[in-house]
Amino acid sequence: MSVLSEHWNDILSVAVNTPLEEPMKAEGFLRSWNSAAENMHMIVKGLEICKPVNCIELGTFEGIGLVTIANTLKRILPSSFFLTIDAGFPFDINTTPPTFFDWEKDEHWKGWGDVLSARNERVSRGYGSCKVVYKEGLARDILPIELPKMEWWDFCFHDTVHVYERIMEEWPTLKAYSKIGSLIVFDDVKADSEIKNHFEEKEPDWYMKYTETGHEQLWAERVR
Ligand SMILES: C[S@@+](CC[C@H](N)C(=O)[O-])C[C@H]1O[C@@H](n2cnc3c(N)ncnc32)[C@H](O)[C@@H]1O
Repeated sequence: MSVLSEHWNDILSVAVNTPLEEPMKAEGFLRSWNSAAENMHMIVKGLEICKPVNCIELGTFEGIGLVTIANTLKRILPSSFFLTIDAGFPFDINTTPPTFFDWEKDEHWKGWGDVLSARNERVSRGYGSCKVVYKEGLARDILPIELPKMEWWDFCFHDTVHVYERIMEEWPTLKAYSKIGSLIVFDDVKADSEIKNHFEEKEPDWYMKYTETGHEQLWAERVR
């Protein structure tokens, strides 16, 4: 029996909108780029159940997910590794290669400086038995370099751009380094989205659950 099928109700039961300890620093609309508290509580519960030692976060942003995950791993495991990746700066996802915005001059991106300083501090804070490594760049470029060093991953929080074509630039590499029991959580997934359809129709080795709680998430566990 898979962890997800056995424990999904336990994971859902903690999805309450109580604030996380870490204060948000991002201003204005950037605040909504942070994960929903309900979903972070679910992730903490999922980590407590699965006890993954090799973890990944795609999309660090200001580092609230990073702190929550790293502190949980530190609390529950004598030793763990946690790779968190971010493009670093806001960019236009529709151009190839991506065009980075001049956030310092662009009023629209007011607040990105706070994101940077918060992220830098949270990445370098130190998490005891959980070794945190932050890599800057596009996930599709960083994963093929870092995953061979990790050899496998058993938990991944996928929270970059929530666009199917962009996710598919990363998913084949992630899948290649998964193992039975690997658990991935995709954030911001709509009920009729292509990524949900993809898992339902094309990933028979992955058992999935979907929730409209918080930001709406797809959880998938490799079962064979
Ligand atoms: C929704 S925020 C992440 C929030 C964070 N996971 C948390 O829990 O608070 C998305 C982040 O993904 C980053 N990003 C977007 N596309 C990316 C890509 N292709 N590769 C790496 N990072 C990316 C953005 O720079 C942004 O900081």
